[in-house]
Amino acid sequence: MAKYRIAWLPGDGIGVDVMDAARIVLDKLGLDAEYLHGDIGWEFWCKEGNALPERTIKLLKETDCALFGAITSKPKEEAEKELIPSLQGKGLVYSSPIVGLRQLFDLGTNLRPCKAYEGNPLNYRDGIDLVVFRENTEDLYSGVEFFPFPKEVFESIKAKNKKIARFEKYGLDKVAVSMRIISEQASESIVTDAFEYAKKYGYKSVTVVEKPNVIRETSGLFIRTARKVAQKYPGIALWETNIDAMCMWLIKNPHDYGVIVTSNMFGDIISDLCAQLVGGLGFASSGNIGKDYAVFEPTHGSAPKYAGQNKVNPMATLLTAKLMLDWLNEQDKAAALENAIAKVIKDGKVRTYDMGGKATTLDVARAVAANL
Ligand code: NAI
Ligand code: MG
Repeated sequence: MAKYRIAWLPGDGIGVDVMDAARIVLDKLGLDAEYLHGDIGWEFWCKEGNALPERTIKLLKETDCALFGAITSKPKEEAEKELIPSLQGKGLVYSSPIVGLRQLFDLGTNLRPCKAYEGNPLNYRDGIDLVVFRENTEDLYSGVEFFPFPKEVFESIKAKNKKIARFEKYGLDKVAVSMRIISEQASESIVTDAFEYAKKYGYKSVTVVEKPNVIRETSGLFIRTARKVAQKYPGIALWETNIDAMCMWLIKNPHDYGVIVTSNMFGDIISDLCAQLVGGLGFASSGNIGKDYAVFEPTHGSAPKYAGQNKVNPMATLLTAKLMLDWLNEQDKAAALENAIAKVIKDGKVRTYDMGGKATTLDVARAVAANL
């Protein structure tokens, strides 16, 4: 039996293209793994009314981790229209399978490394080497939302906090609310992961990004928890910045930062900013990591206009495979893969269109494999 069982989830669109590329590289590395295909994505929504079928969840439970390509998502009304006729009008509601996976497997940590590999023409500046830790399950993405604002919820809040009263004049059917919910447990867990990472890879500081001067309760709890965690790591400094200022600092002095930790929505925004500093979607890898399971995915979507054309940059997915190898504690293979990726970027001969080249997705994978 193979050492690892890895769920293989290409999804749809260019997810399929980039996962084919990842396989070339993993096979060349000789990872002792069995890859088990799982159905996920738009096709299964249309045919079965579920983009994340039960059989796929079962498969994931029987594997060590998953590598995921990308999937197409569409707004509610459009999604309903694309269901096969026999499923229409049954009240099925599309929900994102990746958000589902994060909640189902308690994948509380979203890890987004952003490194400017030498010779990448898309680097904003050379030498940038950042990692963003984004809390993955709470905050404004908890899914606790209302529209219209239910009267009883409004009244019970008003009894505790008079500031809400000024919205009454608009009428509650003109007011929407999404709740920002943050727990001490999830905050402690994400900040601990960030500090452990800093310790493991020799970073001297961790920067916590919030907005506690305005969002006093939720950001306040996050920051206080970060300070408590930081005390356990005397050799590593805790820096605190506000999200708005941080966006400026990252553009002005990106080299000042190493490990960044934040809550879900700020993390969503800032990790895209950081990704663009080092080449954008073609280079942005990520891991959704829980205590017992992890799902690794490039952060780009299914880019339908390029689907099946063997055209997009597979580097994000190859870097994602490297993250997976790190998580599996296959350090030698992870390092070998990263070196091979870095070499192909530096050589500059095999580049996809986004880097100004003409090479295909699989050309890039083969070039990386040749350097292993
Ligand atoms: P997208 O990331 O799919 O593509 C946006 C544009 O970025 C593409 O048209 C292309 O020009 C460029 N791009 C993306 N990946 C690239 C790569 N590997 N190499 C070179 N260029 C690349 O985002 P978009 O167009 O907003 O969404 C398309 C679909 O993907 C939607 O249905 C959306 O819901 C879904 N999506 C899925 C995600 C996931 O699977 N986790 C994440 C983001 C979007
Ligand atoms: Mg995002």
